[in-house]
Amino acid sequence: MIRVAILTVSDRGSAGKREDLSGKVIEEMIKEFDGEKVYYNIVPDEFGRIKEELFNISERGLADLILTTGGTGFARRDVTPEATMTVVEKEVPGITEMMRWETAKITPNAYLSRARAGIRKSTLIINLPGKPKAVKECLKAIIPVILHGIEILRGDVTEH
Ligand code: MTE
Repeated sequence: MIRVAILTVSDRGSAGKREDLSGKVIEEMIKEFDGEKVYYNIVPDEFGRIKEELFNISERGLADLILTTGGTGFARRDVTPEATMTVVEKEVPGITEMMRWETAKITPNAYLSRARAGIRKSTLIINLPGKPKAVKECLKAIIPVILHGIEILRGDVTEH
């Protein structure tokens, strides 16, 4: 079982003005790899709030994987990647490279997401874009590689 924290970043969602369909897509898709939602929250597009959430979950070891959705684009308030980069200790560029490369075959707009991924302590943190369609495409693209990474992080397998 992989413990997954879902963090939706959305001004409208956190104000109760929009249903969090992207969070629901993540919740559905993690079942494909025996992922279990152990934490869920929705916060506005505020650097401090996002950072605080990512820090607390990873520092306390509450989840193996944190999936954020939203705030990765060009809008003035999009700061999820910046908040993520202040929390991670090691960046894992390949995950978001793969996400963009694979899903750009569906839409070149994939390259407009500034999503980042990295590790803090034993937690892998990955940004996903905000739209439910984008979440579905991006998660599908990376699931095959992240599972092995999480196994290594948890010490379930040793790499030589
Ligand atoms: N990635 C995929 N796979 N599919 C998409 O439809 N939409 C893009 C991009 N990534 C998209 C995608 C668009 S239009 C934007 S603006 C960026 O994600 C940023 O989205 P966000 O600000 O909601 O995170």
